[in-house]
Parts: sequence; C-alpha cells; structure tokens
Amino acid sequence: MNYHFEPSANAATLHTDCIIVGVYRQGKLSAAAAQLDAASAGALQNHLDIGDFSGDKNRTSMLYKLPGVTAQRVLLVGMGEKDKLTLEALAQITQTAVNVLKSSKAGNAIAFLTDEIVSEHLQDAVRQSVVAVADALYAFDTYKSKKDDRPELEAWTLAHTIAGDFSTAIRQGAAIAEGMRVSRDLANSPGNVCTPTYLAETAQELANSSNKVDIDVLEESDMEALGMGSFLSVSKGSIQDGKMVILQYHGGNVGDAPLALVGKGITFDTGGISLKPGNAMDEMKFDMTGAASVIGALTACVAMQLPLNVIGVIAAAENMPGGKASKPGDIVTSMSGKTIEILNTDAEGRLVLCDALTYVERFNPAAVIDIATLTGACITALGHHTSGLLSNNDALAEEVLAAGKQACDEAWRLPMGEKYQEQLKSNFADMGNIGGPPAGAITAACFLARFTENYPWAHLDIAGTAWKSGAAKGATGRPVPLLCQILINRAGV
Ligand code: BES
Ligand code: MN
Ligand code: ZN
Repeated sequence: MNYHFEPSANAATLHTDCIIVGVYRQGKLSAAAAQLDAASAGALQNHLDIGDFSGDKNRTSMLYKLPGVTAQRVLLVGMGEKDKLTLEALAQITQTAVNVLKSSKAGNAIAFLTDEIVSEHLQDAVRQSVVAVADALYAFDTYKSKKDDRPELEAWTLAHTIAGDFSTAIRQGAAIAEGMRVSRDLANSPGNVCTPTYLAETAQELANSSNKVDIDVLEESDMEALGMGSFLSVSKGSIQDGKMVILQYHGGNVGDAPLALVGKGITFDTGGISLKPGNAMDEMKFDMTGAASVIGALTACVAMQLPLNVIGVIAAAENMPGGKASKPGDIVTSMSGKTIEILNTDAEGRLVLCDALTYVERFNPAAVIDIATLTGACITALGHHTSGLLSNNDALAEEVLAAGKQACDEAWRLPMGEKYQEQLKSNFADMGNIGGPPAGAITAACFLARFTENYPWAHLDIAGTAWKSGAAKGATGRPVPLLCQILINRAGV
C-alpha cells in the first residue's frame, strides 16, 4: 500500500478510482462535497434530497458517474455532527470508507476526510488516518490454503481543499502502520511457530535491515552466568530455549541516554504447574504481544529514522508444565539478588520481566517502559478499551497518557503504593510472586517496581487491549501507536 498527500485539491478534477468526501448530519456538505456539488451543477445535492442518505456517522452512499466529476465513483461518508468530529470518530469513519471500498473494484482512492479537522490537530489526524486505513486493510491468512483474491487497494491519497504540508505525518503514519503489521503478524502466529527462538530470529532480521540497529541475544547459559534465576525458573519448564534479546537503535547522539522498551514475550502461557483451565487457552499464544510491540515500535523507529537512542528488550520464554518446571513454593534468586517465592507459576510474566528490568540498568536509560499482557485483573479493571498504566514517576506517566490520547491508543493510570506492596509479603523469601486476588493489576506492578527503583519507569498492562476475542479474534497492533507516539515526541520531529 502506498500513501500520498495532495494539498489544495479540487475533488471534481482528480483522477482516481474513487473520491471519498464527508457529509454531515442533515445533509450539510463538507468542503470537498461542496466542490463536487458545484462541479456537478447540484447533482450531489439532488441525491441527498432523495433522503436515503442522511450523513449520520458511518453511513455511506456510493455515487457513480456524477456529471462534471472526473472520478467514476464518489463515496459519500456520514460524518455525524460537525462539532463531535473527534480524531477517534475520524479514524472510525475512515475505516468505514475502507470497508466499502474493499467490496468494490477500486484499486486506489482519494479521501478528503482529514480536510475537515481543525488545523491544530491536523498532523495527528493525518498520521492516524493512515494508521486507520492500514488497520482496516490488515488480514492474516498465512495459514489459510485459500487466500483472499479480491483486488487489493494499492494507493490511498489524503487530499485537502486547502494548502499545507503533511508529508511527515503521512510518512510517520505509514511507519506506525508497518510496525503494527509486524507486531500483529507475530502475535497472530501460532505458538508452535512463534517460539522464543522465532522472536529472536525476527529481531535479528530487523537488526540486519538497518545499520543503526545492533542486537545481542542472551542464551540460557548467558542468563545463568548473569544470575537471572527468576527468568530461568520460567523457561526451564519448556523444551523451547528461553531468549533475552537486546536491540539497540542508535539514532541519537553517542552518549544520549536511551529510552528502553521491555516486552513480555511468553510465546505460550499454559500457566505452568498452576495450569490454566482449558477454556480459551489458545489465546495465550498472544502472551508475547508486549515483545511483538517492542519489535513493531523499533521497526517503525527505523522506518522514520528517528533521531534518538532506543533500547528494545524482549524477555522470551514458553510457560509450560514440563518435568523441570517450577513448582508452587519454589524459591528463586533474581539477577538483582532479591529472592522470590513462586506461589503461582501462572504469574510468570513478572518473573521474566524482573530480570530484564534489572539488566537494562547497565544502559543508564533515561526512562524504561515495560509492555506486558500481565494480568486478567487489568481486564476486569479497565476492560478492552484502555491499557493499564502504572509508574514510579509522575512526569513519565503524564507523557505516556498524553501520547496515548494523541495516538488514539489510550492508557489509564492506576495507583501504586506501600499499602499494596504489603500484599506481596512472603514468609520464606523477600517477596511472593502474587499478592492475592484484590487489585491484581496493581500488585503485579508493585512486584515489578521492586526492580525499577533506579530509573523512571512506566508499566503498560495490555492484557485487555492487545487482542480481540470472539468472531474478530486477532491481535490489534496496540500499543504500537502509543509507543511510536512517545518516540516521535521524544525525538521532537
Ligand atoms: N498472561 C496472563 C494474563 C492474562 C490472562 C492476559 C488472560 C490476558 C488474558 C498472566 O501470565 C497470568 O496468568 N496472570 C495471572 C496472575 C495471577 C496468577 C496472579 C492472572 O491474571 O490470572
Ligand atoms: Mn500466566
Ligand atoms: Zn502470561
């Protein structure tokens, strides 16, 4: 898919398979729709006067061969109330338009939808619009013997009736979309394919693709030497070798403190000896989405050539109840030296992450953000719309929340504090790995907080947002847009 930008355009005279213009409630025309109406001597208004198409949000009507209009197809898209046109609504409307085009023979389109956004939000709108188009076109049919043979949309142009340069936002949007695709493909891949080794190989390919990216893969023997007893207590239950992958993107000045992204990469979570119930267990192949989002964000970072330094760490293991698996009550020593009583082997994410979080200290990071499908409790707290955010640093937390709003990939901050820390008390070790049923998302973060005292740290619990269940089961690509927005903002481009 190619994305283009066309400023100062007249919708009536453009050459394309389909012109897409908005109409507001009660038939109020957008600027581009008014251009078409004028060029067609009122033919567009005549169509509206019939009354079948109202301009209500997400309603559509396809018109063919409008007189005076160059393009064969004009897709009218309902924009709803003009004063309620948020960036989120715009993304949804854009996807509605893409879905209509998917069932047409149009191979390219020119959309005037972002034209309607007030100028202060235009860069965000354009960036997000590209992401929305790619999101609606995404399909994962690697393992279907019959592929979708519908004609593909090959080019999408965002056009404005007014002047302005949005080529950077378009490029950023395309890069974020590519990062999301990489992340979704990894997460959608089955657990028998996407193993810790596969994640490491994918990271290696990213490193090979850019001279700005270095990679280091820690094998289990390396982790043994580093004293990562907590990570290894998870990986040893599986015949798949655990891997800790460290990607370094050098886009900034030598010596500039990097931002570190640390992803949970449990390529399948059976729960281990604390075995999960069978219902929907297939979805635990998505338990590596944190790691996939780190690879996705770095892919986008490379595509944008952002001028900053970023470290990506992937803590990859399979959580299985093998003969060497940890048992409830086992005590292990983490790389930090702190001892952990494993009261539940299904709380494995924090066990692999804590050693990764200790390891990143050596890079003197400006900030560390970990991304993890960490707790079912986070889904109970926030549902599937917002990711959980927990942090030891107010400024960093505000930065993440603001980037989430900007990218339509929102997070919501949950509290942490000493009172919650008490729930992790163990009679036999420095801490237990679970804190009892109340506030499960918070006590999981409290566990991680014990390993992140030396730098500003934020934790994103993406258990509810990383994938969809049910008929539309599949990875969402979140929180790649949020992570990329943080990188873009930090790079100041
Ligand atoms: N990967 C799961 C969390 C999860 C569960 C994400 C369901 C999305 C959907 C994690 O490893 C886990 O099993 N967490 C336990 C923690 C508990 C044992 C303290 C949970 O949430 O039940
Ligand atoms: Mn688990
Ligand atoms: Zn898990």
